[in-house]
Parts: sequence; C-alpha cells; structure tokens
Amino acid sequence: MNCHRAIKVGSTYGTAELTKIFASVGYDPSTDKYIPNYEDLSKDEIEQVYKKWISDIYITDKGTLDPMGERTINEQWDGIVEALTDKKTRDFKIQGPIEWVRIHNLPDHAYFNHAQHVSVGKLECQTCHGPVEAMEVVKQYSPLSMGWCINCHRQTAVKFTENPYYQSYAKFHKEIAKGERDKVTVEEIGGLECQKCHY
Ligand code: HEC
Ligand code: HEC
Ligand code: HEC
Repeated sequence: MNCHRAIKVGSTYGTAELTKIFASVGYDPSTDKYIPNYEDLSKDEIEQVYKKWISDIYITDKGTLDPMGERTINEQWDGIVEALTDKKTRDFKIQGPIEWVRIHNLPDHAYFNHAQHVSVGKLECQTCHGPVEAMEVVKQYSPLSMGWCINCHRQTAVKFTENPYYQSYAKFHKEIAKGERDKVTVEEIGGLECQKCHY
C-alpha cells in the first residue's frame, strides 16, 4: 500500500474508488495498517471500519456530519459491497479481489504480447487503447482485428538500431549505414508471418 498511503482520496471520486481497494485487502486507511485476521471479520465489522474512514473525510469543522455526508457514506458503502461481493457465485464476502471485468479479448488462436510492443517497441498505451486517462468507463478503442495488427506492422518501424536483437540483420544495417534506408518496419523483420501471431 505504499502508493495509497500518500494518496487516499481521489480527485474525481473522493474516497469511493480507493476505499474499494482498501476494503478488498483489509487495509485500514485511518491507522495505516493492515487489519489483523481480516479474513475472519464479519461484514458488519468491516462496514464499521470503512464507514468510519469515509465519514472522517466528510465531517464538518463543527465535528458533525451534514445530511449530505450521511448519504454519501451510505452510497459509497453500498457501492463497495456491490463491487466486492459476487451475486453470481453467491460469494457475499467483502474480503478478496475486486472482480476484473474483461472487455478486450483476442481469440485463443492469436498471440499478443504487451512486452514486445511496450518495452521493446516503445509504443504508448494510448496508441492502441486510446485516451484511457479520460475514459469514465474503459471501452475498447481499437478493432483488435487481424487487419489492424497487420496494418500497423506494415507502417511502423521497429527500434532497429537500439535493439541488439536486430544485430543479425546485416543487410538492413548496411543500407542504413549507406543512407539507403532510414527505418526498418515490423513487416520487414517478419511481422506479417502467420506463425508470429498464430501457433
Ligand atoms: C500500433 C502499432 C501496432 C499494432 C496495432 C500491433 N503491433 Fe505488433 N508490433 C508493433 C511493433 C512496433 C513491433 C516491433 C517491436 C520491436 O521489436 O521494436 C511489433 C511486434 C510484434 C510481434 C513480434 C514480431 C517479430 O517478428 O518478432 C508480434 C508477434 C506482434 N507484434 C503481434 C501483434 C498482434 C497479434 C497485434 C494485433 C492484436 C499487433 N501486433 C498489433 C506494432 C504494432
Ligand atoms: C500494440 C497495441 C497495444 C499497446 C501499445 C498496448 N496494448 Fe494493452 N492490449 C492490446 C491488445 C491487443 C489487448 C488484448 C489482448 C488479449 O486479449 O489477449 C490488450 C489488453 C490490455 C488489457 C486487458 C484489458 C481487458 O479488457 O481486460 C490491459 C489492462 C492493457 N491492455 C493495458 C495496457 C497498458 C497499461 C499499456 C501501456 C503500458 C498497453 N496496454 C499497451 C494492445 C495494446
Ligand atoms: C500481426 C499478427 C497477425 C499475423 C501476422 C497474422 N494474423 Fe491472423 N489473426 C490475427 C488476429 C489478432 C486475429 C483475430 C482477429 C479477430 O478476432 O477479429 C487473426 C485471425 C485469423 C484467422 C481467423 C479469422 C476468423 O474469422 O476468425 C485466420 C484464419 C487467420 N488469422 C489466418 C492468418 C494467416 C493465414 C496468416 C498469414 C498469412 C495470418 N493470419 C497472419 C493476427 C495475425
């Protein structure tokens, strides 16, 4: 919880989203400690801990809660319960992971690796995912079709000179040295070969 020790209240959602994370793992933001034996706590006990934390944020200078504050606390707690309990599997425990709602899903026969694109290719997340930082609810931005992959591989250059992996492409290195080419595309290093993306 090193990140969320410094930031406990979000700029847009206040305590709502971060308290969800705290409640899922049993971190008490009021004391900056993980709650011992969190697994064994009842829902009511957990509710007390986090409603106290939320109410402390909304308390007025006079030390009282205004009616808006009262409503906010209950709404936030209801949202947290909603996000952390699973009606389908009838798992009504607050403790445990937040459900991951998957929206991007390539078929099993296609292979995609983020490290290849982000660490090696130095592409920005936004190139493929769009302006996620401005999305209220994340949605799929690119078609994720084969044509989309192929198109980009035709147009985009690999980090050819920086990457030792491409040392063996002597012909391209010679052409670059002679000034006959200024880049090598993903296509030219084999990025359109079927077996690169399909097993
Ligand atoms: C926005 C451009 C872009 C899109 C879209 C894209 N790629 Fe790539 N891809 C790259 C770049 C750039 C590299 C090369 C990185 C490097 O080595 O510098 C690469 C490399 C690869 C490689 C390794 C190729 C090799 O010869 O080693 C695979 C496999 C791959 N991509 C699969 C995919 C799949 C599958 C998709 C679609 C789901 C996709 N890519 C979409 C830009 C893209
Ligand atoms: C070259 C395009 C490309 C780039 C760049 C890229 N992604 Fe992705 N991302 C994809 C594709 C394609 C999938 C779907 C993979 C699958 O279904 O196997 C995906 C899936 C995801 C998912 C899963 C989403 C879900 O619905 O569950 C997350 C999270 C994600 N990417 C985060 C990132 C982050 C963070 C970055 C930047 C550090 C990034 N991606 C950069 C193409 C890209
Ligand atoms: C750069 C990555 C990449 C390369 C190279 C590539 N594919 Fe694909 N292919 C994909 C992705 C991603 C999908 C899934 C697209 C989707 O779900 O819309 C796909 C889907 C397919 C499908 C299924 C189509 C369908 O309607 O479900 C076939 C068949 C296929 N590819 C054959 C090939 C053949 C043959 C080659 C070589 C000539 C090839 N692919 C090269 C990424 C690639």
